[in-house]
Amino acid sequence: MSTDNTFNITKVSSTRVENVNLDDPGFGERFSDHMLEVEYREGQWQKPSIKPFGTIEVTPALNTLHYGQSVFEGMKAYYADENTVNLFRPEKNHQRLVRSCKRMCIPPVSEDVFIDGITKLIKLDHQWVPQKEGNTLYIRPFVCAFDPIISARVSDSYRFFIITTPVGSYYNRPVKLTTSQKYARAVKGGVGAAKTAGNYAASLYPAQEAEEKGFDQVLWLDACEHKFVEEVGTMNIFFVIDGVLVTPELSGTILPGITRASVIQLAKHWGLPVKERRLTIDEVMEAGANGTLDEAFGAGTAAVIAPVEEIHHDGQSVRFDFEQRGPVGQKLHDQITDIQWGKAEDPFGWITPISVNS
Ligand code: COI
Repeated sequence: MSTDNTFNITKVSSTRVENVNLDDPGFGERFSDHMLEVEYREGQWQKPSIKPFGTIEVTPALNTLHYGQSVFEGMKAYYADENTVNLFRPEKNHQRLVRSCKRMCIPPVSEDVFIDGITKLIKLDHQWVPQKEGNTLYIRPFVCAFDPIISARVSDSYRFFIITTPVGSYYNRPVKLTTSQKYARAVKGGVGAAKTAGNYAASLYPAQEAEEKGFDQVLWLDACEHKFVEEVGTMNIFFVIDGVLVTPELSGTILPGITRASVIQLAKHWGLPVKERRLTIDEVMEAGANGTLDEAFGAGTAAVIAPVEEIHHDGQSVRFDFEQRGPVGQKLHDQITDIQWGKAEDPFGWITPISVNS
């Protein structure tokens, strides 16, 4: 074990990377050699440890397993060249983690531990960053309650982890979405804006029902009236209506996506009209019927810019016949991924490069 004053570091004796096909890694199935773990006890975060990736032993009474007091983040590391791996807006992920933690009564880790932890992990495991276009090393920071007590109360102890996994596309083809009049993802005053496990757990059953009907995901509507479009659960949603890029405004029930914010910033920079506003599913379906719905796409870290093939609502469908994305989605996809891979200028300072050979 070595220590650099701020981190304890135990390295693997040999890497497992040769056992993984980085050209076709799937999504989140294999994990790189090292992980980070930090303990919170006695009112403070302790010294972080980087160690070989492996199982953790927990009591069946672990608070998180029962009540879901946990939050996570999703980020990616992009291969730029043999000496450089890029992170995309990592400080934004830390800021969102802090907000999610606050909502879930979890003490947040500092930006230093978050960013330095990721940087150290990437330097150690940089050979796990896929070089093939479109593939990345997905970074999953998460924090969970660790009290060994099955009482529904705020925990006194926590663990923060970062694990990394080589990934390909989250969606391999354009997605088919359906609304639901029966289920809701999040209510006003709830935890919809926090990246917390329960939001994803709540969406599984409706998503399974949607899949049984031939759709990939639910396009969530507001929980009160089932009228206003919210998000997809795995990504935010965008429409191009009559030349205007429209996305639901952040209302407290929608995850404030970092890809979402980047799409908006980039589109505005290009002079494209952008509106973050409430929009009804009826308006979307009507635009589909009268020919003004030019395209629709999802935006998220895992999904990147995911084209939508179909939106189904109340027995009607709007279909897009692009082979992949429409022109606006494609242009945004290409520009964002080019910035992420270091192939295009980075006018907004979104990239944090990591030198992996120093
Ligand atoms: C991400 O986009 O990073 C997420 O956390 C979404 C998840 C469904 C993979």
